Amino acid sequence: MRTVKMRMAGGLAVAVVVMAGFGATGAVAAPPGTAGPRYTAGSDGAGDPYFPYSGNGGYDVQHYDLALTYTPPAMAPAPLQGSLTGVATIDLVATQDLDRFNLDLRGMDVTRVTVGGKPAAEVEAPAPGDEVDGAAYWQVQDDAARRWELTVQPRPKVKSGKSVRVVVEYRGTTVRPLDVEGALYGWVTTRDGAIVVSEPEGSMTWYPVSDHPTDKATYRFAITVPAGKVAVANGLPHKPAETSDGWTTWFWDAPDQQASYLTTASVGDFELRPTYTSTSGIPIVDAVDANLTANQLNTTNASLALQPAMIDFFESRFGPYPFNSYGAIVDDDSVGYALETQTRPVYSGSAGQGTVAHELAHQWFGNAVSPLRWQDIWLNEGWATYAAWLWTDDRGGTTAQQAYNSWYAPARTAAYWSFQIGDPGDLGLFATQVYNRGAATLHALRVEVGDEAFFEGARLWVERFNDGAATSADFQSVYEEVSGEDLDAFFQIWLWDQVKPPATWTL
Ligand code: ARG
Ligand code: ZN
Repeated sequence: MRTVKMRMAGGLAVAVVVMAGFGATGAVAAPPGTAGPRYTAGSDGAGDPYFPYSGNGGYDVQHYDLALTYTPPAMAPAPLQGSLTGVATIDLVATQDLDRFNLDLRGMDVTRVTVGGKPAAEVEAPAPGDEVDGAAYWQVQDDAARRWELTVQPRPKVKSGKSVRVVVEYRGTTVRPLDVEGALYGWVTTRDGAIVVSEPEGSMTWYPVSDHPTDKATYRFAITVPAGKVAVANGLPHKPAETSDGWTTWFWDAPDQQASYLTTASVGDFELRPTYTSTSGIPIVDAVDANLTANQLNTTNASLALQPAMIDFFESRFGPYPFNSYGAIVDDDSVGYALETQTRPVYSGSAGQGTVAHELAHQWFGNAVSPLRWQDIWLNEGWATYAAWLWTDDRGGTTAQQAYNSWYAPARTAAYWSFQIGDPGDLGLFATQVYNRGAATLHALRVEVGDEAFFEGARLWVERFNDGAATSADFQSVYEEVSGEDLDAFFQIWLWDQVKPPATWTL
């Protein structure tokens, strides 16, 4: 779904359909009432300058149905490689008259494509501008350019506004993929399964996808693994697992709008624990690796037991929990970080209390409302960090003011202060400043506008852009609306000025 809620004059929230993300790069269909359809290729990116080939133009995905079969590596030998076969059934709506369109897919071999039930022939990638006869598909795998594309040429061509079902069959050897800064991400093969954590554009390592947060969709999963292994995805099981001939299929359904980077289908020796609920009735399903050390298990159990209280607390501050379910996936293997995968964050090694609060807060900030461009990442990480400060404060620990003071007080390098969290760069998405200056920005905003407007703004932000994506400018507008203040100077200082913010907001 590519519906982004936008505020129109008069403060009315309306849903508009964004044709090709932002900065529409694809050719535009003829306006209605003029000559017939003009079929062109959908763009090979959503228009995000940080990741130019992530996402695609010309259509809007409604739903992904992913049937995966995965064999984890044998326990002993390196290298860690598994084998994955998939059938992705993708329902999309054309947003231009489509001659061709792309999906993102990295390191997997496509074996069959149908569009509207009609098979396409596999062909060599044509030279730019060259015609291809008939229904066809081809792949480009350019590691140097980080350009990994599956192009589909449907026949008949697809008129703007038409729904079409695309089925992609694929297979490949799973590895341990790296993101632009060299961190593990995507379908990370582990000794006993896979940790699947795909921020920012690693979903393309395990399914064909329009891999950008501006194209949210619903998901359904059937994940078949060797009997004894447990596969855990987003949402809730829609039927009990089925075992036959030594294989078990796990079924998960995620009915809420979801950004691609928040999709998971992690596999391991998990204990799937009995469901419990928050006060508000959200079912919580945890999957905890049976091989954690006693220490890891103690830490993890203590933190997970606090999830219902954390949901209660964040609901009281940010509004209703935005999805149908919650819970954790805790793996004994590690990627070195946790990820807020929608409804079911993934933790590496163990789940500490602060991290659990952080990943839960992301469900409102990052997941319900996602960054429209990766440039806007501070709205994810600043909020999640600040929400964890609020949780600690509410539990009688360090207050948010004390946390702010201990961030503000120490002398730091010029390089630290010159980092612009408003535009951190692709290599700066997860820089410490995005988290800590981001959280401090929110605390300063709270001091600036007062508690009442601050929390009203948080709720309005989530309500207005829920199921969509938004920018720092949208965020500023919300806070100008709730406070009645002009916040240009405030956000200039906190997001852009390359120096330490003045002590104005230090209480
Ligand atoms: N969003 C995650 C968190 O702060 C961090 C993801 C880090 N990802 C990475 N590729 N380094 O909870
Ligand atoms: Zn985070």
